[in-house]
Amino acid sequence: MPVITNIDDLKRLHKRRTPKMFYDYCESGSWTEQTFRENVSDFDQIRLRQRVAVDMEGRSTATKMIGQDVAMPVALAPVGLTGMQRADGEIKAAKAAEKFGVPFTLSTMSICSIEDVAAHTTKPFWFQLYVMRDQDFLKNIIQRAKDAGVSALVLTLDLQILGQRHKDLKNGLSAPPKLTPAVLADLATKWSWGLEMLQTKRRGFGNIIGHAKNVDDPSSLFKWTAEQFDPRLDWGKIEAIKEMWGGPLILKGVMEPEDAVMAAKTGCDAIVVSNHGGRQLDGALSSIRALPPILDAVGDSVEVHLDSGIRSGQDVLKAIAMGAKGTYIGRAFVHGLGAMGEEGVTKALEVIHKEMDISMALCGRKHIEDVDRDILRVPEDFAGRWA
Ligand code: GLV
Repeated sequence: MPVITNIDDLKRLHKRRTPKMFYDYCESGSWTEQTFRENVSDFDQIRLRQRVAVDMEGRSTATKMIGQDVAMPVALAPVGLTGMQRADGEIKAAKAAEKFGVPFTLSTMSICSIEDVAAHTTKPFWFQLYVMRDQDFLKNIIQRAKDAGVSALVLTLDLQILGQRHKDLKNGLSAPPKLTPAVLADLATKWSWGLEMLQTKRRGFGNIIGHAKNVDDPSSLFKWTAEQFDPRLDWGKIEAIKEMWGGPLILKGVMEPEDAVMAAKTGCDAIVVSNHGGRQLDGALSSIRALPPILDAVGDSVEVHLDSGIRSGQDVLKAIAMGAKGTYIGRAFVHGLGAMGEEGVTKALEVIHKEMDISMALCGRKHIEDVDRDILRVPEDFAGRWA
């Protein structure tokens, strides 16, 4: 068993053990990948203030996200095709999250279905929704989430059309993969992935197949997002979905203060400052840079979370110190899953927890609620001078 000390260790194993098509799907941004890169490099610009002679005993990273207890302010982000990174991937990740005490968010574009994940877990999870043109499908999937005991709906606002990620087009991304000579040559070096996949029936989009009408090729993410996703999503439709759902609602994908104010006005429980991991609008700001003006604009009217760019517990701590009440990890947990299945997701959570806990202590804080802007050194020009 290799010694894992950080998320990069898991990332290397993920790359070695997972078909290129799926590793690349995870590790890419749209077009030039500028936003994808800056999501990470902008966190590096923020420094921590080392404090001394502060009693560090009795620390805790436990807190709440939308009123729900969490072992640390980190949820697993919705990630499409997680069950292609490793057989039954969503079930494995959900189990690891449940044991750790953090929320797991199931993507609409998952391989394991809502019902499958519910059958293999004991605590409620969160469900991420894409708004579809087909009203019957939409009503039905919201009802399925209710029936499965989902405890929050995470509505994604920034993907009514899919951003272009060059690698996915070049690799011919599909679920399951089409067995071309290039894919077969790649699979020959990833045999344990293949053996596990042969033992599961979950190899297509579990929430869609058998539920959505008029899907030409259910294995193609590009085709079916183009056919099914509703490009007419607006604030009125968001209100309608809020009504239909009737439970805790998180609006994900907000990057500008005016949109954050509109989102808060819906009465949702939280908004997520997110650029979809740099996978949608390339050239958008990093999410950590977008966060402060959004916090200024919404004040205490809504809980603000952040995703995109978090690869360590120090990143989580920085986001919390800047004012976010919660964060999400996507790639960081997928690297764990691709590397070592459920055990790898647990490892990713442990790595992040340890990094956060030790950094919090060395900054002189014992509880998440005491973490504030005072532990940071933020460059004066961090917000940028944009005309
Ligand atoms: C879907 O959520 C994607 O980013 O591919």
